[in-house]
Amino acid sequence: MVKKKVFITGVGGLLGSTLARRLLVKGNYVVEGCDTFIGGIQSNVPDIPLHEIDILDTKKLKDAMKDTDVVFHTAALPYEGLSVFSPAIVAQNIVGGTVSVASAALHNNVDLFINCSSMARYGAQTPPFTEDLPTHLKYDSLNISNSCFINSCFLETIASSALCAICSVQ
Ligand SMILES: NC(=O)c1ccc[n+]([C@@H]2O[C@H](COP(=O)([O-])OP(=O)(O)OC[C@H]3O[C@@H](n4cnc5c(N)ncnc54)[C@H](O)[C@@H]3O)[C@@H](O)[C@H]2O)c1
Repeated sequence: MVKKKVFITGVGGLLGSTLARRLLVKGNYVVEGCDTFIGGIQSNVPDIPLHEIDILDTKKLKDAMKDTDVVFHTAALPYEGLSVFSPAIVAQNIVGGTVSVASAALHNNVDLFINCSSMARYGAQTPPFTEDLPTHLKYDSLNISNSCFINSCFLETIASSALCAICSVQ
């Protein structure tokens, strides 16, 4: 059986590294990933080919993603505090980075692109959140007394998800 190649951005982070280990245990996948270790921890990464490249470097990403079937995009600066003081850095990383990863995925004709968004997308709906809940942005349904819902990091996550939707119909 030909194993599918899975490429995980942010593979040194919490989600990326956990996902990589889970996929390796399943055994049906060739797993690779990238990370700059601006966050995350190198020792989190299991024994897989690791590309130490920035997701903003689309050219290198296109090369690294060659023959990829599935992309999990978890690389981000998902730090609410940082997004308050340096929204430009966070926006460049999350919005620009997601477009770069999506472009590299399109370039390589990947079958499936999974973007890790934010649970804040579900707003003030009653937990537990399930994937069939509406995720469109409605300020009146957000809990604006909780600042975690209205910050740059959250808005950028929404923007990058919308951009992924646009890329998927192109
Ligand atoms: N952890 C959670 O419980 C959770 C829940 C819901 C959504 N999310 C979302 O999932 C994503 C990942 O979250 P996480 O908790 O794994 O974050 P994390 O900080 O643990 O991991 C992110 C990884 O991305 C890497 N990275 C950042 N910028 C990069 C760049 N330009 N190029 C290459 N690598 C880069 C970091 O070095 C880090 O290893 C975020 O978008 C977050 O909002 C996380």
